[in-house]
Amino acid sequence: MDINDKNYNLSVEIDKIHLRNPTMLASGILGISQSIFERLYKENVGAVVTKSISVNPMKGYPNPTVISIGGGSYLNAVGLSNPGVDAFSKELSKNKKIPIMISLVGSSEKEFSRMVKVFDSLSILGYEINLSCPHVSKMGMEVGDDPEAVNKIVKTVRMNTTKPISVKVGVGSIDVVELARVAIDAGANIITAINTLRAMTIDIETMMPILSNRVGGLSGTAIKPIGVRCVYEISKNIKAPVIGCGGVSSWQDIIEYMMAGASAVQIGSVLGSNGPKIFNRITKDLKNYVEKKGMKNISEIVGIAHKY
Ligand SMILES: Cc1cc2nc3c(=O)[nH]c(=O)nc-3n(C[C@H](O)[C@H](O)[C@H](O)COP(=O)(O)O)c2cc1C
Repeated sequence: MDINDKNYNLSVEIDKIHLRNPTMLASGILGISQSIFERLYKENVGAVVTKSISVNPMKGYPNPTVISIGGGSYLNAVGLSNPGVDAFSKELSKNKKIPIMISLVGSSEKEFSRMVKVFDSLSILGYEINLSCPHVSKMGMEVGDDPEAVNKIVKTVRMNTTKPISVKVGVGSIDVVELARVAIDAGANIITAINTLRAMTIDIETMMPILSNRVGGLSGTAIKPIGVRCVYEISKNIKAPVIGCGGVSSWQDIIEYMMAGASAVQIGSVLGSNGPKIFNRITKDLKNYVEKKGMKNISEIVGIAHKY
């Protein structure tokens, strides 16, 4: 810990990863160019998670793909649009100092091993595996709903890298603690919780579902208590660091996630209305809180709610 660093009392360790503060950009938010990552870094983000990258470029769904449903909550069905592994590795080859985790998405082990082989020589912190991808052989099912597929994918990524692997779990048909256990037993180091929740909304005038894909993912304020519950249950039952995600819009939300057991916390939807400056504001407020409470470091509160 460098005491001269203005963030020294906010620094956190997540497995082998050291971050200057516990804030992270959630996957899929704010584009995927190195220039955006640099802008976020200037605003004091702790680390950035990229949009989920697949082997081949994906176009995504037609508009509307993201809608506000009010009260700080959103529905999205973007369809995992991304430039694919080859174009994205070129973009990231410019990276020298930004702490980046690459989010990977795929429907078979083969796809994951191809991507990790390309990305592993880049200057990155590690990987986050996105399990919300349609299953290649089980129609209508997501990878995260099939523990056997999760086991195989994580083992494959593990075989191809020594870098930290986080598995991003969500609220699907498998209990979140069970899913996290499968991921850690297969060789993951960290769990990120949670992804969006399946949801939909209908326009009562046109009588049509509003999203072009009909069903999408709920994010923002509405899902925060679910995210906090998942982080709490995972960190109570599984010996691995947890990264919280879901509905964060203030420094108080970050503190709450950390008290539930999160070592770091991702921020997503709120960036849409607040922009990258929110990281600077939140980290300043976190620092004030830590100093006011007389703590040496913010990690002192990780999991503190488990005492009660
Ligand atoms: C427009 C949009 C795109 C997203 N794309 C991804 C993605 O590519 N990969 C992923 O793992 N999660 C993706 N997510 C989910 C977020 O990373 C996050 O888990 C979720 O939005 C909950 O956090 P929030 O409430 O702070 O937004 C996306 C969310 C939104 C709103």
